[in-house]
Amino acid sequence: MTRLLVRNLTQLATPSGAAAPLRGPALRDVTVLEDAYVLCRDGKVEALGRMSELGPIAGDVEELDGSGLCAVPGLVDCHTHPAFGGDRVEEFSLRASGASYEELHAAGGGILSTVRATRALDEDGLRARVEWHAGWMLAHGTTTWEGKSGYGLDHDTELASLRAIRDAGGVPTWLGAHSVPPEFDDGDAYLDFALADVLPEAAQVATAADVFLERGAFYAAQARRYLEACRDAGLALRLHGDQFTESGAIPLALELGARSVDHLEATSADGARALAGSDVVGVLLPASALFLDRPMPPARALVDSGAAIALATDFNPGSSFTTSLPLVCSLACTRLHLSPAEALSAATVNAAQVLGCAGDRGRIAPGLRADLLLIDAPDWRYLAYHLAGDIVSAVIRSGTVAYRR
Ligand code: NIG
Ligand code: FE
Repeated sequence: MTRLLVRNLTQLATPSGAAAPLRGPALRDVTVLEDAYVLCRDGKVEALGRMSELGPIAGDVEELDGSGLCAVPGLVDCHTHPAFGGDRVEEFSLRASGASYEELHAAGGGILSTVRATRALDEDGLRARVEWHAGWMLAHGTTTWEGKSGYGLDHDTELASLRAIRDAGGVPTWLGAHSVPPEFDDGDAYLDFALADVLPEAAQVATAADVFLERGAFYAAQARRYLEACRDAGLALRLHGDQFTESGAIPLALELGARSVDHLEATSADGARALAGSDVVGVLLPASALFLDRPMPPARALVDSGAAIALATDFNPGSSFTTSLPLVCSLACTRLHLSPAEALSAATVNAAQVLGCAGDRGRIAPGLRADLLLIDAPDWRYLAYHLAGDIVSAVIRSGTVAYRR
């Protein structure tokens, strides 16, 4: 039995209750305890409360002094692309002088340039990259993360990507329909190959499948074909939708019972209403919109109409080169007009819901996995307030200190 007592926390803040996903007013219902402790045992939270209520603890217990720190749940990044080789710093420089992301993609740069660099790695090289990126996420307070393949787009590199993500502790998603690789004439021919030759093995490793439904990537009919085959193979469904154009991602997600539609920068009022009336979570990626200088998703309209939303980094080399969910929470408050409480729930419980693990993660509560982010701040809302601040003091994952500044 291993026990860890975090004591003297200035504040402990956690989304209230036990429901998931949180919507509407419940999204901003955060419980805050002042002068608090958390006791972890065998990887789970055993108890929490005010220091004044803490009785003597019999037996061995490791202690961590939380003086001057605030605890929030370990953050959950439900949308990342960590399995890639190379970088896109050259493209970043071109975009800074005016080239557009879509033009670079159409000219064979963009995603396809990362496909070339990823295919050039051997499996150990790819594993090393994913582990490196996972370390960045942990250092920003992320204790649970999803990782997508999608930069291999051939049998061996897709499967190596999924295994590398799984073995680095991530939740693997097969993004088999990210782009049409150059050896195929069109999306249909590529999907013939991917569904016959990659899906059977991908479904053994991945928990979900994802598709980029967009002009220049896959059309709605192709996305439907891909997602239906993945659903029949037992995978949960996700979509990259409404990033540049509203192309039918929300109706398709609703019809197929997808877990999420992600991006939504181009979603109309009608689209937002349709999403709000469903169980599909809208995953908002404001760092990606910022990085590409694109419009922000209609977050306030989504929340106010009752949609379930989550926040994620979209970490990838092209459209969002950041692993910082605290930065995403800052953008949520400054650019999406969410409150710090709404941002916290969206980056914890609701993100866990997208990954199917909200029963075990996303809150600080007895019986849940003991995942805590301790921030160096006098108020938990510094999580969003301290823009790009050096706030991560320690990260506890499954009741063990996994990172200390
Ligand atoms: O979510 N939009 C599609 N896929 C990624 C970007 C991938 C890339 O540019 O390499 C995204 O933004
Ligand atoms: Fe993405």
